[in-house]
Amino acid sequence: MQKPPLHHTVNHALQHHYQTLRTVHMRELFAADPERFEHFSLQVGDILLDYSKNRITAETLQLLTQLAEVADVAGWRDRMFQGDKINNTEQRAVLHTALRNQSNTPVRVDGEDVMPDVNAVIAQMSAFAERVRSGTWTGHTGKAIVDVVNIGIGGSDLGPHMVYQALKTYRHSRLEMHYVSNVDGAHIKEKLETLDPETTLFIVASKTFTTQETMTNAAYARDWFLQHAGDAAHIAKHFVAVSTNREAVTDFGIDPDNMFGFWDWVGGRYSLWSAIGLSIVLAVGADNFRRLLGGAHEMDTHFREAPFERNMPVILALLGVWYSNFFGAATQAILPYDHYLRSLPLYLQQADMESNGKSVDRDGHNVDYETGPIIWGTSGINGQHAFYQLIHQGTRLIPADFIISATQPNGLHEQHDILMANFLAQTEALMHGRSLEETISGGVSEPHAPKVFAGNHPSNALLLDALTPHSLGMLIALYEHKIFVQGIIWNLNSFDQWGVELGKQLAKRIQPELNMTEAVTSHDASTNGLINHYRQRRHA
Ligand code: F6P
Repeated sequence: MQKPPLHHTVNHALQHHYQTLRTVHMRELFAADPERFEHFSLQVGDILLDYSKNRITAETLQLLTQLAEVADVAGWRDRMFQGDKINNTEQRAVLHTALRNQSNTPVRVDGEDVMPDVNAVIAQMSAFAERVRSGTWTGHTGKAIVDVVNIGIGGSDLGPHMVYQALKTYRHSRLEMHYVSNVDGAHIKEKLETLDPETTLFIVASKTFTTQETMTNAAYARDWFLQHAGDAAHIAKHFVAVSTNREAVTDFGIDPDNMFGFWDWVGGRYSLWSAIGLSIVLAVGADNFRRLLGGAHEMDTHFREAPFERNMPVILALLGVWYSNFFGAATQAILPYDHYLRSLPLYLQQADMESNGKSVDRDGHNVDYETGPIIWGTSGINGQHAFYQLIHQGTRLIPADFIISATQPNGLHEQHDILMANFLAQTEALMHGRSLEETISGGVSEPHAPKVFAGNHPSNALLLDALTPHSLGMLIALYEHKIFVQGIIWNLNSFDQWGVELGKQLAKRIQPELNMTEAVTSHDASTNGLINHYRQRRHA
């Protein structure tokens, strides 16, 4: 059995290198190399990554690249792309890349090329979307669809929802998408109150078609619809399903002809490229969906072909490992300076934390090093007025990704310059800080000490030429591959999620207990106490 990469000798060299670099200020690194931006930035398609404001030298990257090599990132990457069952606990291939394989070269799972099926579902989605968008597909009273409600949770919600927000300027003018995920009845109830059943289409999006939250909301929506429409035959015009589970879809009462399939080799959090993206296709059209896939494919190709030292996902991953495993950073902030990308941090929370939030490695051993970071963040400009204080002057090291587009579609150029100026100012301030001398000589009033900024806080700047379907596809795939590379370095299976199962099982056991007449005593004292407290007050 191979040693985990972080037990390899290159780790000792990195530890040693860390000791020499940990007290070095980035100011010194910039002063020593006037071309630091040229040396530590990279353009791929329409994305520029400036990673010069990191606590690294050329030697750091060289050593980190060696770490990627001993981890066999290239081998695992190739095994993923060619359809090997690298999700070892579920014995599944991991092929979200096949969903955007615009080269259409065969990709085989168990000897079968999956591309014909992939292309068939894209064609089915495109044809359906065209009918809805053109108004040829109507509700049961003959009216065109106006509102589409995607009922799903986790990967069946976060990806399409984030992309729908991001591509707002590409949307069809008549159609509005809505995303209902929470089983808290307030979510679906409030949403349905605003909708007309005659012109509403529901997409029940669930890979398994067993997820309690989704199935409860879907049943509620079906009841709501039938209260208005009366005849169950009308369901066919108003409910479609996206799932791998044909039987459960049929049992629910959705016509299998109105089902869009995908496969067990698409992980939930990697599924927006599959039929789970149906709401995206409806909103922005099949051509733009293909552009989204095309952007992801461009990033896939870059990831497969570029040497590690010029490979954007690999560089982002290695920087993350550098801060997690050597500097002890526990979190990674995602800060989009783009209103349309405001849900990206939420999306990446699932993508990253459900993938690499693990403490048992691929070989079943407990790890003795840190793995996936806590991903957090919000729209950057709002964050400045909320939590940036702690990033600038707190005691913790918080690596941050700043994301912005060079052009904005709304024509409000002054606003965009303000946004950009703040984006630049924050990364500069984080890196450079302000010394006591600068504080005093800058005429800052006393007291001076609280107004000193240590600086030396790392950040990446990601600059998109514009937020388009193509660049968005590239950006999402960039993070997917970053997560993949980190998972390999930490020797994890990034594609299962057993950590969410226990809570689901316990909830199933607890739910009937909430209706018991006698006091519940079968749990620990805290859980018993809470259950019994709730039972006395429920429905008050
Ligand atoms: O949270 C666990 C999870 O299995 C996610 O991985 C998944 O995206 C989500 O639940 C929804 O699952 P489904 O699409 O099967 O309803």
